[in-house]
Amino acid sequence: MPTTPVQDEDALKELIAAELSASRDRSLGLTTDVLATPELLTQVSPLMSPLVWDLAHIGNYEELWLLRAAAGGDPLRPEIDGLYDAFEHPRAERPKLPLLPPDEARAYIAEVRTRVLGTLEDVRFRPDNPLTAGGFVYGMVVQHEHQHDETMLATHQLRRDAALPDPDPAAAPADGGPGRDEVLVEAGPFVMGAEDDPWAYDNERPGHLVDLPAYYIDTVPVSAGAYLAFMAAGGYDDERWWDPAGWEWRCSSGRRAPGFWFREGVQWLRRRFGRVEPVPLDEPVQHVCWYEADAYARWAGRRLPTEAEWEKAARWDPAAGRSRRHPWGDDPPDATRANLGQRALRPAPAGAYPRGASAYGVRQLVGDVWEWTSSDFRGYPGFRSFPYKEYSEVFFGADYKVLRGGSWATHPLAARGTFRNWDYPIRRQIFAGFRCARDAA
Ligand code: AVJ
Ligand code: FE
Repeated sequence: MPTTPVQDEDALKELIAAELSASRDRSLGLTTDVLATPELLTQVSPLMSPLVWDLAHIGNYEELWLLRAAAGGDPLRPEIDGLYDAFEHPRAERPKLPLLPPDEARAYIAEVRTRVLGTLEDVRFRPDNPLTAGGFVYGMVVQHEHQHDETMLATHQLRRDAALPDPDPAAAPADGGPGRDEVLVEAGPFVMGAEDDPWAYDNERPGHLVDLPAYYIDTVPVSAGAYLAFMAAGGYDDERWWDPAGWEWRCSSGRRAPGFWFREGVQWLRRRFGRVEPVPLDEPVQHVCWYEADAYARWAGRRLPTEAEWEKAARWDPAAGRSRRHPWGDDPPDATRANLGQRALRPAPAGAYPRGASAYGVRQLVGDVWEWTSSDFRGYPGFRSFPYKEYSEVFFGADYKVLRGGSWATHPLAARGTFRNWDYPIRRQIFAGFRCARDAA
């Protein structure tokens, strides 16, 4: 994806075509074998859509934005639009809808794609049309598909049976760790949000100055081993550490460990894509909700970082007086910098990726696990909804907490340092962990 608007339209078209094809390979890889299983036509969890819904929804979204909005085409199958409108039917209802069966869903999305590639030849990325300037709407559709791919991975993780081949990639680059637990981020302003990134979402804009007091932030995400110490210290039974709504969640849910963990004798095990294995103590803890992260931080005498603190630690370069695109600089992510793009179906050990460190020496801000922040999801000062309110704006308010940084399942195209994710504070099915911070004064 372009870091600055690509001037050459042909080069941008080539990049778009390649990215469209890569995201489609990924979606098909996550649905092809498993869609033979009747269980997956129904529903693994009321929190998730049946995978056939995600698959056809991906194509329907592409049709709406690339064939109709961008190219002025007529609907291919107007009768199905309602089925795949995320706002018309909540996830729990989706299995009861007359969804396209797997083969029809695949044929439909393939037909949409063939037409999209046809219209791509003639499209002009005119700077005065905000929908197509810099290829925005194409970037939006590609990122949408990758976001649903990550959601489909969360659905697979909720299945009890093994589903996906578990790749065993080269070990993450390591050097013994950053050598200290936390770093000081000095007081002062930084540029938060996207300034001139053509594929950034509306909720990342506009770029704006934020002045923060000094704070400390952890150099690595909280590990499963550290989280176990909280559990062993009775953290789940001590109301003092919990937000009142979190304590209510703790009591009504009966949870006493991260999602997918269970105990056998003295050992903690976890289920990961259908396989049972000992909890790796050095991995960032995953599948904790915001309330659990918040309780751990209070127990540790710390707190969650605000979203602005997270972004300053990730992007601000105090020597240069500017915000970087990624923690390490403006170069795109690669396997030496961050654990992204589903190369492995798990986070790398906490403390890995020295080359991915930010200017402050903070590691693994991008990739491995999404990181809960203390912040509610809201528009930045001067926010303008674009191109539709239902991407971001309808979720603004106190109901959702912001997550930052992307997980091992996040595609590099959506892993820029300004990207914002959000979810309810009780949710644990996403690939989320956290790191802690504290006031400096
Ligand atoms: C940004 C991950 C919260 O999955 O609800 C997908 C992304 N928006 N289709 C979601 C999204 C429309 C969104 N999240
Ligand atoms: Fe969607």
